[in-house]
Amino acid sequence: MIKRTRKHVIGEALMANLTEELWGDLHKMAHDRLYSKSGEGSEMTDWIDWPLKYQESEEYKRLKETAKRIRNQNDVVIVVGIGGSYLTPKMIIQSEYGEFYNELAEENQNPKIYFVGCDLSPDRINEILELICGCEWSIIYISKSGGTMEPALVFRTFWQKLYELYGAEADSRVYAITDAQKGILRSIANERGWKSFAIPDGIGGRYSAFTACGLLPIAVAGIDTDKLLQGAVDAMKDCSSNPNSFAGIYARWRYFNYFQGRKVELYAVNAPEISFFSEWLKQLFGESEGKDGKGLFTTSAIFPTDLHSIGQVIQEGTRNVIFETFINREFKTSVKIPKTNLKDNLNEKCQGKEFYQAVAAAMDGAFKAHTKGGNLCCTIKVGNTLEDMGYLMQSMFVSCAVYCYMIGVNPFNQPGVELHKTNMKSSPEWDN
Ligand code: PA5
Repeated sequence: MIKRTRKHVIGEALMANLTEELWGDLHKMAHDRLYSKSGEGSEMTDWIDWPLKYQESEEYKRLKETAKRIRNQNDVVIVVGIGGSYLTPKMIIQSEYGEFYNELAEENQNPKIYFVGCDLSPDRINEILELICGCEWSIIYISKSGGTMEPALVFRTFWQKLYELYGAEADSRVYAITDAQKGILRSIANERGWKSFAIPDGIGGRYSAFTACGLLPIAVAGIDTDKLLQGAVDAMKDCSSNPNSFAGIYARWRYFNYFQGRKVELYAVNAPEISFFSEWLKQLFGESEGKDGKGLFTTSAIFPTDLHSIGQVIQEGTRNVIFETFINREFKTSVKIPKTNLKDNLNEKCQGKEFYQAVAAAMDGAFKAHTKGGNLCCTIKVGNTLEDMGYLMQSMFVSCAVYCYMIGVNPFNQPGVELHKTNMKSSPEWDN
């Protein structure tokens, strides 16, 4: 059991297996390598102390002012990006507002937000173009390299529409978030005079949550970015001063499983509102660790929903591959289970109890059943505030980098993804 002094994150791992003797030296070496910037890819570790620097920067003030302007001017904002260039805002907006951000946007005096460029479906593009017809809208285009095909193709489609609608004014409705100097998006943004923000050289896509890449769309959604950043700053301090912070323990938990031959990690979240947190984790870990024939395969499920489908195979299917990290986030509101006149035999057991207790019972039931099935399980408990999320996200960056150094891979490159990008550009499909 790991207890933190603040309530933010409490991980309950199989601590008996994670003793200093077993993994201490390797873990310490990996932690030192990250913080002394002597590991592979160390030029991409500026995210380590970024939250504090950014919190105090002039650019952050400009970002908040820009977000206000975008909110005042628009009914709809189109956010274009893929991978690390869209998952953070998508995830935080979902975890703050649940599934219904857009449905409640008007009531909450927020612009609707549509994420595009993370897929290439012509049907979805058409649906969104139809939905925004007659609205005031602008575009936030996020691409660190500026050359990724999926967002570039979808951006040009929306840009063309924007230009047809607004003419020369269209240029004042595009906000570009990209490299400070390099890349095609940077040159176009400079040439057309688009307002822009830079993703620093030393921070890669999936580690860019606390740059404008994550924070601008989050602020546009009316979410308090100060709180999110504060959580990240708290984690930043805890992680650097203590190798056995939550981040360190989680790195060792993953290493322990990897070492024992379990090659699949399942993130099991306790609510649909945080399903994108699993997507975010899958991308962070998957792209960081999966190379040189190494790394865990990360996958996810929502409990109790998926307990009634793939729960069966998780528990009793092919053995030796799975360990589970349960993510139990506190709920923000409560619903009491009512007393009714139904003869369903549930009054005695459940009336007057809360739904969060029902969720806890489902998670507890799954934890025990899956452990019995032979999986190793641990739980991460997360509070429901933005500080809690910021803390957890920054901790996960550290955890991921430390774990990657433990298994001996560079956490900051993604050669496979780059090959996909090149292949897509040169595919013969374009010649048909
Ligand atoms: O983490 C990463 O580096 C990737 O997932 C990128 O974010 C993704 O490929 C998009 O790249 P870009 O922002 O250059 O368009």
